[in-house]
Amino acid sequence: MQSSTAKDCFDNFDCCHLQIVSLLVWALVCSAEASICPPACQCLSKNAWTCDNISSVADIWRDSGMVVEELTLNHIKDLNSTSEQSFSDHFGIFVSVRRLKIQQSAISSISASFIDSFPIVETVFLEDNQFLCSEHILSLQRWQSKIDGFNKLQCSSPDGLAGKKVFKALKSIARAITECPRPCRCVVRSMDSQYSIPNLLVNCSQSKLKNTPVSLPKSWVIELDLSHNTIEDATPLFNLPVFRNVTVLNLAHNHIHNIQVPNATGHKNHFKLLNLANNKLTQLANSVIFDTENFSYQPLVMLRNNPWKCDCESVKMFQSIALKQLHIIGDFTHLTCGGDFEGHLISSPAFLQRLCHVPAVAIVTIRCVNILCFIFVGLALIKTAFDLRTMYAVGIFHYFAHLLLPPRK
Ligand SMILES: *[C@@H]1O[C@H](CO)[C@@H](O)[C@H](O)[C@H]1NC(C)=O
Ligand SMILES: *[C@@H]1O[C@H](CO)[C@@H](O)[C@H](O)[C@H]1NC(C)=O
Ligand SMILES: *[C@@H]1O[C@H](CO)[C@@H](O)[C@H](O)[C@H]1NC(C)=O
Ligand SMILES: *[C@@H]1O[C@H](CO)[C@@H](O)[C@H](O)[C@H]1NC(C)=O
Ligand SMILES: *[C@@H]1O[C@H](CO)[C@@H](O)[C@H](O)[C@H]1NC(C)=O
Ligand SMILES: *[C@@H]1O[C@H](CO)[C@@H](O)[C@H](O)[C@H]1NC(C)=O
Repeated sequence: MQSSTAKDCFDNFDCCHLQIVSLLVWALVCSAEASICPPACQCLSKNAWTCDNISSVADIWRDSGMVVEELTLNHIKDLNSTSEQSFSDHFGIFVSVRRLKIQQSAISSISASFIDSFPIVETVFLEDNQFLCSEHILSLQRWQSKIDGFNKLQCSSPDGLAGKKVFKALKSIARAITECPRPCRCVVRSMDSQYSIPNLLVNCSQSKLKNTPVSLPKSWVIELDLSHNTIEDATPLFNLPVFRNVTVLNLAHNHIHNIQVPNATGHKNHFKLLNLANNKLTQLANSVIFDTENFSYQPLVMLRNNPWKCDCESVKMFQSIALKQLHIIGDFTHLTCGGDFEGHLISSPAFLQRLCHVPAVAIVTIRCVNILCFIFVGLALIKTAFDLRTMYAVGIFHYFAHLLLPPRK
C-alpha cells in the first residue's frame, strides 16, 4: 500500500511538474559544482580547472561529470596510462577540453591513449617542463601542430640529448626505431657523434640470434650489442660496409669459432672496443687487431674464455702483440689455452719458453750436427777420391809393391 502510494506520488510528480524538475536539476548542477570539483583541482570558473600534484589524470576524472574546456595540470606525475580501457571509460570529461596546459612536470613517458583522450584540443602549452627524450614520448608528435611554440621545447635528458629541440630529437628517434633491425632495440644516445663515440645503441643482446643482423640504421655511429646469442660466424661484421660505422662491438657469449678478415683494407672495420670473450675461437684472425699502428685512439679487445690453440707461434704472437701494444688486449693476463694445453696462461713467459725454446735448441743442435756430419763425410769422400787419383798418378801402388817385396839384387 505504502509503496504504491509512493509510486503514485512519484508518477504524479514526474508527469505534472516537468518544468519544476528541469529547474530543480539545473539548480542541483549549479549548487553541486563546487562539490564536484575534484579535490586536487581549483575550479576557478565553470569550465577552467587547475589541478596540482595529481599522480595521473585518473585522479580527476573520478566522480566528475563536468564539462571542462581549459585544463591546467601542474606537477603531474604520470602521463602514461598503462590501461587503454580506463581512458575510454572516462572519455566524457576531457572530450570537451580545448586548451590544455601541462607545466612543472617531468615528461618521461606519454601514452597514445593519453593523447587520444583530448580529441578536440586546439592548443597545448608545454613550456616549463622537463622532457626526457626517448621513444616513450614519441606520441607527442601527434600534438606537434597544436603545441604552442613547439620549436622552443628542449630535451633536458638524457645527457647526450640535453638542450636539443624535442621534436627534432623525436624525429631522429622515430627514424632509428623504424630502421632498427628486428628483434633488436635501438636507443639514441645523442644527435651527433664526436671522436666516433657511438650515438646509437643497437641492442640485440639475448635475442636468440644465429646470424648477424643484415642492416643497421643509417647515419649513426653505432654501439652494437650482440652478446648472449648463438652466432657462430662473425665474418660479416668485419667485412660488410653496413658495419663500418660500428665502433663498439660486443660479441661476448656467443659460439663464434670463425672470423675471416680479408686483406682488402677498403672495407676494414675499425673497432674502438671489441668484445670477443666467451666464444669458441681457437685462432686470432690476422688483422683483427694488427693494423692499429696509425689509429688516433687505442682500441681495446677482450679475448678471454676462448679455447685458444697454443703452440710456439701463436703464443709468441699473443705475447708480442701485448708487448708492442700495451693494453690492447684488455684481458691479456686472463687468456688461457684450450686443447692439449688447456688452462695454461698464454701470458706466461715460462710457458712460451717451454713451447718454443727447448724444441728450438734441439732442432738447431740436430741441424748443426747434421750439417757437420754432411760436411765431414763430403770432405772425407773428396779427400779419398783425390788421394786415390794422386796415388794412381804417381804410381804409388807400384811403389808400395816395390817396398813390400824385397828389392832384387
Ligand atoms: C606540489 O608539489 C610541489 C613539490 O613537489 C610543491 O612545491 C607544491 O607546493 C605542491 N602544490 C600543492 C598545491 O600541493
Ligand atoms: C608506459 O606505458 C607502456 C605501456 O602502455 C609501458 O610499456 C612503458 O614501460 C610505460 N613507461 C613508463 C615510464 O612507465
Ligand atoms: C642490452 O640489453 C640487455 C638486456 O636485454 C642489457 O642487459 C644490456 O645491458 C644492454 N646493453 C647495453 C649496452 O646497454
Ligand atoms: C657513418 O657515420 C658518419 C658520421 O656520423 C655518417 O656521416 C655516415 O653517414 C655514416 N655511414 C653510414 C653507412 O651509416
Ligand atoms: C695480409 O697482409 C699481411 C701484411 O699486411 C700479410 O702478412 C698477410 O700474409 C696477408 N694475408 C693474406 C691472407 O694475404
Ligand atoms: C702508418 O703510417 C706510416 C706513415 O704515416 C706508414 O708508412 C705505414 O704504412 C702506416 N701503417 C699502416 C699499418 O697503415
